[in-house]
Amino acid sequence: MGQRTKIKALLQSEQTNIEVTVKGWVRTFRNNQFIALNDGSTNSNLQIVVDFENTDPTLLKRITTGAAISVVGQLVASLGKGQTVEVKATEIEVLGDSDPEKYPLQPKKHSLEFLREIAHLRFRTNTFGAIFRVRNSLSFAVHQFFQEKGFVYLHTPIITASDAEGAGETFHVTNFDLLNTPKTETGEIDFKQDFFGRPTNLTVSGQLEGELGAMALSDIYTFGPTFRAENSNTTRHLAEFWMIEPEMAFYDLTDNMNLAEELLKYVIRYTLDKNKEDIEFLTQRLEEEEKQKPQNERSDMSLLDKLQFCLDNDFERLTYTEAIDILKESTPNKKKKFQYPVEGWGTDLQSEHERYLVEKHFKKPVILTDYPKDIKAFYMRQNEPDAQGRETVRAMDILFPGIGEIVGGSQREERLDKLEQRMDEMGIPKEELWWYLDTRRFGACPHAGFGLGFERLVLFVTGMGNIRDVIPFPRFPKNAEF
Ligand code: 4AD
Ligand code: MG
Repeated sequence: MGQRTKIKALLQSEQTNIEVTVKGWVRTFRNNQFIALNDGSTNSNLQIVVDFENTDPTLLKRITTGAAISVVGQLVASLGKGQTVEVKATEIEVLGDSDPEKYPLQPKKHSLEFLREIAHLRFRTNTFGAIFRVRNSLSFAVHQFFQEKGFVYLHTPIITASDAEGAGETFHVTNFDLLNTPKTETGEIDFKQDFFGRPTNLTVSGQLEGELGAMALSDIYTFGPTFRAENSNTTRHLAEFWMIEPEMAFYDLTDNMNLAEELLKYVIRYTLDKNKEDIEFLTQRLEEEEKQKPQNERSDMSLLDKLQFCLDNDFERLTYTEAIDILKESTPNKKKKFQYPVEGWGTDLQSEHERYLVEKHFKKPVILTDYPKDIKAFYMRQNEPDAQGRETVRAMDILFPGIGEIVGGSQREERLDKLEQRMDEMGIPKEELWWYLDTRRFGACPHAGFGLGFERLVLFVTGMGNIRDVIPFPRFPKNAEF
């Protein structure tokens, strides 16, 4: 197909008066003369100047918004405003026409809701170009961070028979004909005849298998899709999301928190550096959006400031019990402004409580530790009961402004007797998790890990408001389009 140069490289080119070939999609075509061309390498368009007097009019007509074209021409210094270089076309070929009557993306501002309905085309907008370049950098930075530290990237299974979090929110995996499932003598579904000979589901977390790896490789991480059949139609939940789950032998909860904080700062710093132009664009986008809001709902920091602030400050660390005391005494609680009043110790925090702590009280990222054991998963290490007999586990959740929980993790229960006792209490079948319990039988050691919700991270870094806008094709209740 011949040599072509990406637009990002051309716009930074120090050389002019050279012949170049560029390919991309037409954003706009003005006065039969100026094409704004974009190839996704940057949000900035390349201006193509067309010698319309010497160009076939039928070709000119085919240069429409959305069309794919190939251009050969001279890269020259631009006289016009808004760009330093442009391309004087000598040859234009339309590779793919785009009927302007039917093409849904017009050169104007579309609502995010509308763009979600045409998610197959929304990559072609400035906003989504920026989002997916940022997402790309964040994921590369995650790998780089762990690779530099000698962690092993472990691919844990997507199909599993366990529900690691025990929340019962799994999607079943079967190849049964659902209208005619084989039955046992007692009339139940006979899973022995199913593909795997047992009930299976899509994984909600790679942690349990990750722990097995850490018990030999010391430090591992997973980075893959996870699936939850939570029926939550919120701006923070997806049915299919990506999670990063490191698991480290010989780590306690403090080591675990340190690693998580370092990871978050590393990937944000990397992306600020690498995607400066995109973050600036997204910062402006958010400013525009905030202008539509009433004064008291606008945030006092720009996106760029928020990211920088997160890098410059230590995350606030406190226990769940301390957090409850703060919340009980808080103005919104006393004035009955919370939808869920904070009364006693032991209940889970609602996102309004998390956001109060982060956005109003501490005004920075917060790490909460040592949650009541009854609201956390079976595998977390049990603390000694406190003076009042309250039982907690070595859990940690990291809460971010505008997001709420971004990381959930814990030191793991490595003591076989304590773990088995907890599984019994919670009705988790020990026979099925025999392999997990084996790591507590053979060379058990203190270890810890966490899960970082990748889309929540992308939400934070892009300043977007809805998680459905930071994954290419979101899966949520009643939606699996594309
Ligand atoms: O807190 P969670 O449920 O923790 C675990 O799954 C542990 N096994 C992690 C570990 O210790 N290895 O989930 C971890 C993170 C949450 O903090 C959140 O960021 C994200 O995953 N998350 C979701 N993101 C999008 N949509 C959902 N439905 C999510 N559920 C959790
Ligand atoms: Mg959690």
